Amino acid sequence: MIRTACLAAVFAAVSTVAFAQDAGRGQKVYADQKCSICHSVGDAGNKKGPLDGVALTLSAAAIREWIVAAPDIAAKTKAVRKPAMKAYDTLAKEDVDALVAYLQTLKKR
Ligand code: HEC
Repeated sequence: MIRTACLAAVFAAVSTVAFAQDAGRGQKVYADQKCSICHSVGDAGNKKGPLDGVALTLSAAAIREWIVAAPDIAAKTKAVRKPAMKAYDTLAKEDVDALVAYLQTLKKR
């Protein structure tokens, strides 16, 4: 019993750390890809496209779709802001995963 609980606690801690590492890497991908040309987080970047609180309105799947297939989802959501976002469809899967993990941490408007 106690052993199972310990294992569960260790597992939870390890996955939290893994997620935090992914989010940290995602923040770097965000910077490297210059997402801030069109988006802001907090005071940094283009205030016309704030991503603050994006995790409150979009699911991880929707965030992923924006990154890899922006033109498709922009058409579906009738997004009109210009310049439009391109599909980041040549990013490595790990980079996309990390970006999604990072954007999922943005829970404050
Ligand atoms: C050339 C400008 C441009 C760049 C660069 C850009 N985007 Fe976008 N992005 C947009 C536009 C325009 C929208 C549509 C929503 C809007 O009007 O803000 C959008 C929407 C999004 C959304 C959905 C936001 C919401 O609240 O519905 C996410 C998430 C997003 N972008 C993430 C990113 C990430 C991550 C990067 C970098 C890899 C990036 N964008 C780079 C222009 C850009």
